[in-house]
Amino acid sequence: MARRKKIYEGKAKTLYEGPEPGTLIQYFKDDATAFNAEKRATIEGKGVLNNRLSEFFMNGLTAIGVPNHFIKRLNMREQLIRQCEIIPLEVIVRNFAAGSMAKRLGLEEGMRLPRPIIEFSYKDDALGDPLVPEEYIIAFGWASQQDLDDIVALALRVNDFMSGVMYGVGIKLIDFKIEIGRVWDGDFMRLIVADEISPDSCRLWDIESGQKLDKDVFRRDLGSLTDAYSEVARRLGVLPTNGPIGDKPTLIN
Ligand SMILES: Nc1ncnc2c1ncn2[C@@H]1O[C@H](COP(=O)(O)OP(=O)(O)OP(=O)(O)O)[C@@H](O)[C@H]1O
Ligand SMILES: [Mg+2]
Repeated sequence: MARRKKIYEGKAKTLYEGPEPGTLIQYFKDDATAFNAEKRATIEGKGVLNNRLSEFFMNGLTAIGVPNHFIKRLNMREQLIRQCEIIPLEVIVRNFAAGSMAKRLGLEEGMRLPRPIIEFSYKDDALGDPLVPEEYIIAFGWASQQDLDDIVALALRVNDFMSGVMYGVGIKLIDFKIEIGRVWDGDFMRLIVADEISPDSCRLWDIESGQKLDKDVFRRDLGSLTDAYSEVARRLGVLPTNGPIGDKPTLIN
């Protein structure tokens, strides 16, 4: 492999300099972390699945006119993306109560919320990505009120798209998180969906059985994470064609 400059090594992905200015290569690792990286493991094949799934969702967003960073997939683990300036927020969209929200409010997991609820947490691992109100975001200059209005509009479009796609394959979209970045066309700034959309960043429950098909399988030791992600990929018709994932042969029917 040609030598290339590593820009950033995160918990789940590594970013390399792209072939042209304004581009990056996003490499999907097999590493999984949870609870602010207190729990970690390497899960054979996870990166391959997330690379494919994020490609699938981002392409779908492009098709319906939701701007995002995806340019093209390069190989099993890498995709070419548009470089952007990440807004230091996790944009979380919730349709049903789960995780930290269920805990905070004492709600039963799976309870349908009166409407989709969007919340923001400040991306800072040392602080454990604390929840922040819009007031903080504007006061500290992470985003303007106009940016926030645009981010909410983008997040709701992603929610409708993802909910619909998942519903079509018998899966309920409980919640998800996205990251948003800024790109400039001359002086004109636009906001685009960046990072990844995958079972690492969504909660996905089988509609019939309630079985979890997302990172909670890892967080809560509910079985094989690759089996869960493979099931999502299989239902969506997205499975790697370049041979088996991981060290064991995988039957694809
Ligand atoms: N289009 C993009 N341009 C620039 N940076 C991006 C883009 N898409 C994603 N990123 C950033 O790349 C990194 C991806 O790595 P990873 O998700 O493994 O990080 P992480 O360990 O979760 O840390 P972080 O808290 O920064 O997300 C993230 O910091 C993410 O914000
Ligand atoms: Mg991340």
